[in-house]
Amino acid sequence: MRDDECVQFLQWALPQLRMRWPGFRKVRGQVCKRITRRLTQLGLDAVTDYRDYLGGHADEWCVLDKLCQVTISRFYRDKLMYRFLARKVLPNLAQQVLDQGADCLRVWSVGCGSGEEPYTIALIWQLQMQSQFPRPVSLRLLATDTNPVMRQRVADASYTYSSVKNLPAKWRDTAFTQDAERYCLKPEYKNDIQFMQADVRTAIPMETFDLVLCRNLVFTYFDEGLQRRILDRMQAVLRPGGALVIGIHEHLPEGVSEFTEWSAKLEIYRKANANSG
Ligand SMILES: C[S@@+](CC[C@H](N)C(=O)[O-])C[C@H]1O[C@@H](n2cnc3c(N)ncnc32)[C@H](O)[C@@H]1O
Repeated sequence: MRDDECVQFLQWALPQLRMRWPGFRKVRGQVCKRITRRLTQLGLDAVTDYRDYLGGHADEWCVLDKLCQVTISRFYRDKLMYRFLARKVLPNLAQQVLDQGADCLRVWSVGCGSGEEPYTIALIWQLQMQSQFPRPVSLRLLATDTNPVMRQRVADASYTYSSVKNLPAKWRDTAFTQDAERYCLKPEYKNDIQFMQADVRTAIPMETFDLVLCRNLVFTYFDEGLQRRILDRMQAVLRPGGALVIGIHEHLPEGVSEFTEWSAKLEIYRKANANSG
């Protein structure tokens, strides 16, 4: 399939999936390849035939939805953001946990991929922060992804060099064992994490969090109505004063009033009703 044919198809199909074309502009190669494979599977010659096929097969929209899930991630993606989290946000949130007489900092990573994002938080926590607190604060990470394959990948925690190369070399040496071409996270860094398969459009965990990371998913690929609906739900599970981190190239929809900016440049927000640090 030619690129222009795929673009035209995506511009027609994505709004019907409540997704937005601009989010796919740069990553369309991956999605177009998958759609081409699907045409072959179905024995269709042209993407226009696939449009007709979608017209007659309502279930095929679920297949297309899956083909449009972009899975690119890596450890320490956007390191300035992670540095700000480590310097300002996590200490502040952990202090609030202690002030409330609690001992557990709860984090939700939405669209966690193969675990690169939640494990980066676990590494920051264990290698940089834990010792700063006179009274122990434990970390509990919930990692959710709609793709069932991620459960095993998160459990395996085995990565290529390109996935881990952004990490400080010292952390890489400390936290991973190297096996042929793979970097395997040591078990002691995997304890704090729980994986749950969940589609953020339809399922929100029934607990509260101090920090929610929702990066390079909702605010890139979903349409604005869906963004607002999901944001409302994330807002509801964040405790007052808790933080929301979205992707560094993403923005919250206009007019959102439940959050104040913690760092506008790094797209870090704070749920209102608490002192910011
Ligand atoms: C582009 S990756 C971003 C990974 C990570 N958050 C980051 O920023 O590096 C998007 C992830 O979201 C997952 N995903 C896609 N649609 C989803 C949905 N509706 N609900 C939950 N996860 C979803 C994909 O499987 C993928 O792992």
